[in-house]
Amino acid sequence: MGRAFPEKGKSRDEVMAALTDHRARDLASDGRAFAFVYDAGAEAREVAREAYAACMPINGLDPTVYPSARKIENQVVAACLELVNAPPGACGTATAGGTESVMLAVKGARDYARKTRPLLTAPKMLLPVTAHACFHKAAKYLGVEVIPVEVDATFRADVADARAKMSDDVILVVGSAPSYAHGVIDPIEELAALAKAHGASMHVDACVGGCVLPFMIENGEPIPRFDLSVEGVSTLSMDLHKYGFAPKGVSVLLSARRELRDAQYFACATWTGYSIVNTTTLGSKSIAACGAAFTVMHYLGREGYRERARAMWDGAKTVMAAIEATDGLELLAKPDMGCFAFRTTKGDVFELADRLGARGWHVQATYAFGRSPAHIHLTIDPGNAQRAGAFAEDLVACTADLPDTIEPPAQVVAMLEGIAAGGGGGLDAGTLMGQLGIADGQLPTQSAMIHRLLNAASPAAREALLVLFLGELYS
Ligand SMILES: Cc1ncc(COP(=O)(O)O)c(C=O)c1O
Repeated sequence: MGRAFPEKGKSRDEVMAALTDHRARDLASDGRAFAFVYDAGAEAREVAREAYAACMPINGLDPTVYPSARKIENQVVAACLELVNAPPGACGTATAGGTESVMLAVKGARDYARKTRPLLTAPKMLLPVTAHACFHKAAKYLGVEVIPVEVDATFRADVADARAKMSDDVILVVGSAPSYAHGVIDPIEELAALAKAHGASMHVDACVGGCVLPFMIENGEPIPRFDLSVEGVSTLSMDLHKYGFAPKGVSVLLSARRELRDAQYFACATWTGYSIVNTTTLGSKSIAACGAAFTVMHYLGREGYRERARAMWDGAKTVMAAIEATDGLELLAKPDMGCFAFRTTKGDVFELADRLGARGWHVQATYAFGRSPAHIHLTIDPGNAQRAGAFAEDLVACTADLPDTIEPPAQVVAMLEGIAAGGGGGLDAGTLMGQLGIADGQLPTQSAMIHRLLNAASPAAREALLVLFLGELYS
């Protein structure tokens, strides 16, 4: 066995071949993935690649040393502010992704509230149950309590429930534009009015919709108001590494007022090294993805984004029409953009996901939570939109003769709950993964049984099991 860190260097060809080999089973950007991939096409990808490489030497830690970091970020932020109708005085920050934008929005809201409401002791946020999990992460990291807000039958936040749960401790109200799972926009105007009336901040999570909804509006689609022009909205996040078509590693957090962004910054002079001021959670940081975002935005222009928004919505409508016309399938909600959930009303939904997988489609099997049943999630991008017709045909074919919903044996679910709780009767996570056919970090082709088990487990057990599984994957 060679050493993990080789004694002697290898040839360029050899190391690149090793990398290519490692990537062999990665999800391809070939228009057959309905999650993870946001592909504006080969030309835009190439432009992004070139820009990414050109920006590699830039360290965003210090914009006085790397002025390009500031210039690139300012232009990206300015374009985003314009896109979401920011009021005069609004500003923003480029972050490493949606999660970081959200974490900083929560941190900013918390620290702004601490400054302006000195009697505050136990900060809370009103969070629709459909909001992305990264808000829970922010809440845990930052010591903010989540007050869950229920959703109505359309999976939009229930404003009456939010109003009933409002208190003096609430520092932040959250709404999504749209929510990831169901693709619906929360009633942002009403939530923002509620937040404003109680002196709380309001964050709009437009991580998914920020680079699509404005172009759908320009295409004449009826999109409810969600952006920074809405009275009471304090901050808004939008991910450029999703529908901005940039490589992974860039999102923006926009603030309606400078004082809100000041609360998100971090400065430290109480150590023996250089005094620090950071806009985000990272210190030294790459600007490569932000540089690529800048380049792709300017390369495609509004026109290019509008065309893609139209193609994606057309693709979404093709797939949704097939779902609505097929006995045994049902959309969970009518989405505001091409990002949605459907379930089986007859037959096993996880078997359907496996069948689609066997035909080369990557779809996201999703577990039941609250009023949202187990379902398949589809995110439409310009790549898969081109194949919407072929996917719809396969979806209809795969739905025929599905076996009835299969409930996993109760004793197996109980055993999983035991393992999750730290018991497990001698069965460790590694052995369990082997028994379930999880090898070399990948789910087996037939993964319906694994999904059925996790779907049947409690959310707490799911979380614990996923942590155990991930721990097995990494050295
Ligand atoms: C609505 C929404 N917000 C936030 C995030 C988190 O984004 P990221 O995965 O870039 O951290 C996602 C990711 O899918 C999302 O869909």
